[in-house]
Amino acid sequence: MILAFSNLKGGVGKTTSAVNLAAALARSELGVLLVDLDPQGSASYSLGVPGGGDGPGLGDVLADGVPLAEVLWETQIPGLDVACGGADLARAQMSLARRKGPTARLREALAPLARRYDFVIVDCPPGLGLLSLVGLGAARAYVVPTTPQYLALEALDRFFTALETTEPDLRPRARLLGILLTMIDHRTHLTEEVCREVRRRHGGKVFRTEIPINVRLAQAPEYGRSIFDFASWAPGALAYSRLGAEMLRRARRQGLA
Ligand SMILES: Nc1ncnc2c1ncn2[C@@H]1O[C@H](COP(=O)(O)OP(=O)(O)OP(=O)(O)O)[C@@H](O)[C@H]1O
Ligand SMILES: [Mg+2]
Repeated sequence: MILAFSNLKGGVGKTTSAVNLAAALARSELGVLLVDLDPQGSASYSLGVPGGGDGPGLGDVLADGVPLAEVLWETQIPGLDVACGGADLARAQMSLARRKGPTARLREALAPLARRYDFVIVDCPPGLGLLSLVGLGAARAYVVPTTPQYLALEALDRFFTALETTEPDLRPRARLLGILLTMIDHRTHLTEEVCREVRRRHGGKVFRTEIPINVRLAQAPEYGRSIFDFASWAPGALAYSRLGAEMLRRARRQGLA
C-alpha cells in the first residue's frame, strides 16, 4: 500500500509523522520504503540518511527514468529503506512540468518494487505543487496531519478544495485515509477548541490517536533516529505506535492494505 502525507500548510508534522509511522510499521516486521519527496530532505535527514552526493537521486528517477532501486538507502532500522531526493528534486520539478503525465512518474517507478515492500510512505513537501501531486498520484490513500490552530483548520479546508479543483489530468485518485491531529497539548484552551472543531467538521475521518506535543519528537531528527530508537519510553513513541495500529486497522477495513 502506498500512503502519502500531505497538507497545504507547512510545519504541521508531515515529516515527523511519515518518519515515525514508517518506523512503527517496520518494527511490526513489515517491509517499508519511505520516499522523501521534499527538496528540504528532512525525512532522509531524520533517519540519518545523507542523500545528495554525486550518485543519482529521486530527481533523476522522476525526470530521467533512472530505476528507483538505484537510489535506495538502508536505514539503521531493519526493514526500513529510504529513497531520497534532496535539492535535485527542485530541479526535477521543473523538467517534470514539461513532461507528459508527470504525476504518474512515481507510481511507475514504484511498480517494479511492489513485491519488495508491504508499505510505501511518501513524505510530500508543503503545498500542492507538482511534487506533492506526484506523491499523491502514486498513493492509494493519504493522511493529512494538522496542528491545533485556526489557521491550520482553514488550510485543511482549502487543501481539500484545492484537491477537488485540481485540473483533471493532474488530480490524484488517492483516498483520504485520515486527518491526524499533531502537536496536541490539551492543557490549552485553543487546542481543545480547535480539536473539537476539526472533529465536528470531519467526524470519523479524524484518527482517534492524537500525537502529543513532545520535545523528544523534535530532538530525535538531530540524532538521525526515529522516536523508537531515541526515546522509546516518550509519549511521542507511544502515540506513533498507536497510530500505526489504528492506521493498519483502518486501511484493512477499507480494503486498502
Ligand atoms: N508532536 C510534536 N511535538 C513537538 N515537536 C514536533 C512534533 N511534531 C513535529 N514537531 C516539530 O515541529 C517542526 C515541524 O514538524 P515537521 O517537520 O514534521 O512538519 P512538516 O509538516 O513536515 O514541515 P514542512 O512543511 O516544512 O515539511 C519540526 O521542528 C518538528 O521536529
Ligand atoms: Mg516536512
